[in-house]
Amino acid sequence: MAARRESSSREVGLKIGWICGEYFLKLKHLHYGYWTDGLQVDISNLRAAQEEYVKFLLSHIPKGVKTVLDVGCGAGQVAQRLLCEGYAVDCVSPSDFLTEQTRKSVGDKSEIFECKYEELETQKRYDLILFVESFQYIDLPTALANTSRFLNAGGHMLICDIFKKSGEGKGRQSGGHDLDKLSKLVETSTFSLVEDVDITEQTAPNIDLLNDALEKVGKPVVESIADFLSERYPTVFKLLSWKYQDELDKVSKKYSGGSRTGEQFRQFKSYRLLLYRKDRV
Ligand SMILES: C[S@@+](CC[C@H](N)C(=O)[O-])C[C@H]1O[C@@H](n2cnc3c(N)ncnc32)[C@H](O)[C@@H]1O
Repeated sequence: MAARRESSSREVGLKIGWICGEYFLKLKHLHYGYWTDGLQVDISNLRAAQEEYVKFLLSHIPKGVKTVLDVGCGAGQVAQRLLCEGYAVDCVSPSDFLTEQTRKSVGDKSEIFECKYEELETQKRYDLILFVESFQYIDLPTALANTSRFLNAGGHMLICDIFKKSGEGKGRQSGGHDLDKLSKLVETSTFSLVEDVDITEQTAPNIDLLNDALEKVGKPVVESIADFLSERYPTVFKLLSWKYQDELDKVSKKYSGGSRTGEQFRQFKSYRLLLYRKDRV
């Protein structure tokens, strides 16, 4: 199961996000911050907002849970926190780099399944299967089928993630499963909804912070490097720009223009904590 995989652009993005976040802001997580009323929305408070997010998440773990599978565990910091709280935790991680970080966080206390959740094979069963901003990356029907398979009877699925609001069209920010699609699939599944908390307001400020950082730091840095390369190596630069034109256009459209705003996020997305119980077999 630990075969080396080719890195997707998403995994590369998460790796860069983790390295920069940890170095410059001492961040421990790869998820959004949860901006409580008293917390000023400023990049220097992002670490505190991420800690608030974890507190919020842990407060929704049902009583009686002993074993947890953390799917898409990032750098393993939520798993580490759960271990400290006395849960037995295993992790699923398809990224070589993040698996390495997770190993540093959890040591030999957890088994790390180094694969996509869609590919997981294990005889183990859990009381809780957790998706912290990872649900959006996993094929929806497979996520439900596998979770039903790997949960004990009466076990819970806890998702905290971004969803697309149904019928709102497409915003500039990609990502998130369609909320209506999920509800429809759940109707014919083994699950029933226990809790649904909308935390869009508490998470939307992250988009403005990210946008600000990209505009003020990311864009000028990339432009300076491009200017330097085009002066020094004009022929190679022209050739590479031509060859990767489509990819460069996509990245530029996604990360520039200042239109990935908190306002847009509120319009097109919904950030939800969803707790389901496996009632039927
Ligand atoms: C935004 S990060 C969140 C990480 C972590 N849960 C946290 O809260 O810091 C998304 C995570 O999902 C993982 N991921 C992406 N695709 C996946 C898949 N198909 N199966 C399992 N995990 C996946 C990534 O490797 C990464 O760890």
